[in-house]
Amino acid sequence: MTTVLVTGGAGFIGSHVAERFLAEGWAVHIVDNLVTGNRANIAERATFHELDIRDARAAALVAELKPTVLVHLAAQMDVRKSVAEPVFDAETNIVGSLNLIEAVRLHSPATRIVFSSTGGAVYGDQTTPPNAETFEKNPESPYAVAKLAVENYLAYYGRVHGVQSAVLRYGNVYGPRQDPHGEAGVIAIFCGRLLDGRPLTLFGDGRQVRDYVYVGDVVEITWRASTRDLPPAALLDARAFNVGTGQPTDVLRLVSVLAAVSGSVASVEHRSERPGEQRTSFLDVRKSAEHFDWRPRVSLEQGLALSYEWFAALHAARGLTQREGAR
Ligand SMILES: NC(=O)c1ccc[n+]([C@@H]2O[C@H](COP(=O)([O-])OP(=O)(O)OC[C@H]3O[C@@H](n4cnc5c(N)ncnc54)[C@H](O)[C@@H]3O)[C@@H](O)[C@H]2O)c1
Repeated sequence: MTTVLVTGGAGFIGSHVAERFLAEGWAVHIVDNLVTGNRANIAERATFHELDIRDARAAALVAELKPTVLVHLAAQMDVRKSVAEPVFDAETNIVGSLNLIEAVRLHSPATRIVFSSTGGAVYGDQTTPPNAETFEKNPESPYAVAKLAVENYLAYYGRVHGVQSAVLRYGNVYGPRQDPHGEAGVIAIFCGRLLDGRPLTLFGDGRQVRDYVYVGDVVEITWRASTRDLPPAALLDARAFNVGTGQPTDVLRLVSVLAAVSGSVASVEHRSERPGEQRTSFLDVRKSAEHFDWRPRVSLEQGLALSYEWFAALHAARGLTQREGAR
């Protein structure tokens, strides 16, 4: 049986990725320290290792399992926390990643690493979107600096040591299991607020543009990047792929589509613009389409409906539990 090790498999994207590999008949191992992940997200048939990616035991696990693929999603992914605590961010996102990459080089050189980077943040503000993979990179946060650093390490390990890797630069991923109480993930936050009957918060004019991609489409390209041929290893961008829709979507449009799919009148509260917030970011996804024959299948309307339905079911189940607890 082929084996995949999914770091961050108790989190939002990782839990969906783990399910896909299980459905394809692979043995799935998950490494997660549950800092933001949730035990309830862990697929039943997966083997769970409660470990930190910085721990020597995580490296030892790579050496022991020698997985065919290492899908590396575990990360400190709060951009504001990375600004407040850049050392902590680098310890997790750079040193933790290196711990795993070195284990591959030393003990499991046939393992392919599929790394989750950020198309929303590595290009920075200096380019004119849609950003293609080869565009200049000017990361504007320690989080994005760390992701780009790991991309550079992987390019180096590919050139010098022959380590196989693909880099997926995600746009703004959304869908079931995203944390509605986190700092990121505006769609999850809006769904949670709509269901609680609370207003949606708009910063500035609500015209900030992002590339929102449904988690099912992200899982599909992760599967293809794990199992299909890759371009030859060369420079930084050779094996990097943008993962988005290529469509610019602003927050005002999210509000109106969510109001339509939820059937509720969304009340909105306005706050002043957040200093330093990127205005416009969306991705050129032609390379992913050409190389992996991959296209995002889920439209914004479908994706928001699927997400809202999932959050509504969770909300109803929690309400039931609370009412039963009060009896
Ligand atoms: N969600 C997005 O829009 C988005 C966009 C770009 C990139 N990404 C990247 O995708 C990956 C997954 O993101 P997500 O949205 O599923 O986030 P998430 O927080 O749901 O998942 C991250 C998982 O990593 C685990 N983790 C964190 N630090 C760890 C450590 N030191 N050791 C072991 N486990 C650790 C957490 O417990 C969590 O389960 C991250 O690398 C993130 O940077 C996400």
